[in-house]
Amino acid sequence: MAQSGTDAQRDTWTSNRGFILAAIGSAVGLGNIWRFPGVAYESGGGAFLIPYLIALITAGIPILFLDYGIGHRFRGSAPLALRRLHRRAEGIGWFQTMLLFIISIYYAAVIAWSMSFFYFSFGTKWGSDTQNFFLNDYLHAADPGISSELVAGVAWPLALVWVLIIIVLATGISGGVEKVNVIGIPLLVLGFGALVIRALTLPGATDGLNALFTPDWGALTDLDVWIAAYSQIFFSMSIAFGIMIAYASFQRRKANMTSSGLVVGFANSSFEILAGIGVFSALGFLAHQQGVAVDQLEGLTGPILSFVTFPAVISQMPGSALFGALFFGSLVIAGFTSLVSLVVGVSVALQEKFGLSQRTAAVSVGVVCAAFSFGLFATTTGLVALDTVDMFANNVGVVTSAIVMCVTVVWLARRGELLRLHLNTVSTFKLGRWWIPLVGVFAPVFLTVMLVQKLRELIVDGYEGYPDWYIGVFGWGTVVLAVVVAAGLALTGWKGRDDPAFVAWPPLEGAKR
Ligand code: ALA
Repeated sequence: MAQSGTDAQRDTWTSNRGFILAAIGSAVGLGNIWRFPGVAYESGGGAFLIPYLIALITAGIPILFLDYGIGHRFRGSAPLALRRLHRRAEGIGWFQTMLLFIISIYYAAVIAWSMSFFYFSFGTKWGSDTQNFFLNDYLHAADPGISSELVAGVAWPLALVWVLIIIVLATGISGGVEKVNVIGIPLLVLGFGALVIRALTLPGATDGLNALFTPDWGALTDLDVWIAAYSQIFFSMSIAFGIMIAYASFQRRKANMTSSGLVVGFANSSFEILAGIGVFSALGFLAHQQGVAVDQLEGLTGPILSFVTFPAVISQMPGSALFGALFFGSLVIAGFTSLVSLVVGVSVALQEKFGLSQRTAAVSVGVVCAAFSFGLFATTTGLVALDTVDMFANNVGVVTSAIVMCVTVVWLARRGELLRLHLNTVSTFKLGRWWIPLVGVFAPVFLTVMLVQKLRELIVDGYEGYPDWYIGVFGWGTVVLAVVVAAGLALTGWKGRDDPAFVAWPPLEGAKR
């Protein structure tokens, strides 16, 4: 990809529709199907929707606009765009790129599990003891530790995931990434829509919905519930980790950014709530079959919900193969379109920094990610590693990234007003002056309170009873590694083409305020 002052040869989405579908493809992912239903159930049920919607409106949408503004105005992946925004801000972009790398290497493993379970659906190969099947027969799960024992059942589909990712990335933004989303998203909506309709017609579905949506108002006074809502919004909308900066940078100059952002944000949350409805209707059915209340079911959160409890639901259903294929097929498509965006963020960043060709960057990033993905998550200790890395990368890494980016853009670089004017110049939905205090004051203050509480909890209580050395290496180590590598990359000289006096746009004097 060429990088020049006028960036005339920069690869772009072929249409606004292509951009919107790709952004929805990035947002709608495992977070929506695999994470949201369990998090909502655990964090107050119906009452969780209040912090969730507040998080969407006060941080999700405003920070999505911030990402869009940075990417579209400064036309680069996170490191390049932030470096153009302020010469000292490149490191924040590298920190975000490192988070993308870390998330992508375990995210790919969950897609590999989903592929296997898609296959297992035909003939419900998990048998009657789904927990034993997932943990022992399939993952050969061991206690927290470091293992070099590869699990073949995970390694094969994982290899396929990485080969496909490399092919998509090597064919470029308009040629590969956009096409995957233009095909994948309508397919996902149809497949998952059919699953939800089927789930709603099952006996017991209403009990499942009552369990999910009956509010526990007491949960609203629990700071952890708010933390869960904000982390869910960040992970789910793919914000504050550089993806949306890169995706916006491939948007044409004349592009309605904020209106597209509203479509993406609301589409993502609608899908998330739809997933909650589908999953809990099906759980209501399981409880009905077992003659128990939904809250007496076990394994309603995390990977266990999708890979232990859900297979048990599927086994009980008439037409189980189709239902299983729809569920795990949806996980594969939703996960894959998101994984593409995670790895694009890393690949484009390195391509720009080191002046690499698109293909070289795609292949080298794909191979390195695949190697880490295998070494850490396709082994017998993969599940525990995944749980730990996911928790720290999101609740500590992404939240820190959001705070630092907001403060840097608004207070240190003083570019908040420029970005607001920029977005207003190109978009029909105009951002009022309220946007700046929201991203410059409210979001960072609130996120800092959350982060401090989370850090205190992790330091005092540890995590899930895992040994301290393990949390040190896979938890804190993940965050420290991201900071150290980011600093190293920021201090390395810029090798690619970049015009230091980059002026891509006419000045904004006279722009509508
Ligand atoms: N936004 C992606 C998801 O929800 C990462 O899974």
